[in-house]
Amino acid sequence: MPKIAIIPGDGIGIDVTAEAVKVLRTLDELAGLGLDLVEYDLGAERYLRTGETMPAETLNELREDYQAIFLGALGDPRVPDMAHAKEILLGLRFKLDLYVNYRPVKLLHRDLCPLKDKTETDIDFVVFRENTEGLYVGMGGIFKGGTPDEIAVQEDVNTRKGVERIIRHAFAFAKEKGLGRVTMSDKSNVLRFGHDLWQRVFREVGEEYPGIEKQHLYVDALTMQMIKRPEQFEVIVTCNMFGDIVTDLGAQLQGGMGLAASGNIHPGRVSMFEPVHGSAPKYAGQDSANPLAAILTVQLMLDHLGYAPEARAIEESVRRAIAAKCTTRDLGGRLGTRAVGDYICKCLAEMDIG
Ligand code: IPM
Ligand code: MN
Repeated sequence: MPKIAIIPGDGIGIDVTAEAVKVLRTLDELAGLGLDLVEYDLGAERYLRTGETMPAETLNELREDYQAIFLGALGDPRVPDMAHAKEILLGLRFKLDLYVNYRPVKLLHRDLCPLKDKTETDIDFVVFRENTEGLYVGMGGIFKGGTPDEIAVQEDVNTRKGVERIIRHAFAFAKEKGLGRVTMSDKSNVLRFGHDLWQRVFREVGEEYPGIEKQHLYVDALTMQMIKRPEQFEVIVTCNMFGDIVTDLGAQLQGGMGLAASGNIHPGRVSMFEPVHGSAPKYAGQDSANPLAAILTVQLMLDHLGYAPEARAIEESVRRAIAAKCTTRDLGGRLGTRAVGDYICKCLAEMDIG
């Protein structure tokens, strides 16, 4: 029985997680998945109440007893430095060693693409963002802080093991899905040490995949090409920082943050799934946030857990919702958060899954 931890988190994370859970429960009933969903109280409320972010025993429980974690969003104006959010989100990524940040960029309806003349077949690729190293490790420091001579150093950590495992994952994914090209993006023309390592590993690992075309783009050129000719991309692999930036760009190509889903994965171990968007405190509790990114995140999670037909049914339902404009305002509809969730559940109930 797959055990899934649910962490609604803060702000609209709570609103959209309710709909994601509604979809999970609906599918559980329709297809008899036997899911065991357990909700965790982690986020700003708990932090303000008790000072706890992610207690060690909770982390151990998640690591040992669960197959997946669903996370809504974190961030609350009462915690201005986002201390709890960083500890929970980055804590899960680092401490559970979730080294693959999987962010598909798939246009589900051509009207949602901000680029003229681009259609569903043009925008369909995945980004694998390294998720445990780079500028995110927090190594560095301040010297002579607060003086005119202040020096701030932030280290960019790239390990052979870390670079190799994400590049290997990208190639293995391409091979498994029958895709023809892997694009690696770095800034090796300037970052001569760390990103030279990416170059060498990409060449070496690439040799093991003779049937797959290897493309390299500096990250500035990548952002340009994502707008100019997005149809060339199938699999993009890049470092933590660049992956963070280019996946926001990717989210816009597919219709905005309201549709961007992600998985934080360690193959074979508990993995965490979250919409790419934040907690948008301004819109919290108003039944206005778009739940489709959270619902598409459930799709990624179910696919990861081996429920491919159920995952496909979710994508099909989301396509229908968009086509029928049964969406929130950001996608041109007039429905609230809950009504969109209900619409998706209704579509699922009408489908022949499997
Ligand atoms: C993301 C977010 C996070 C990141 C923030 C909230 C720390 O922007 O998941 O893309 O930078 O990874
Ligand atoms: Mn980001």
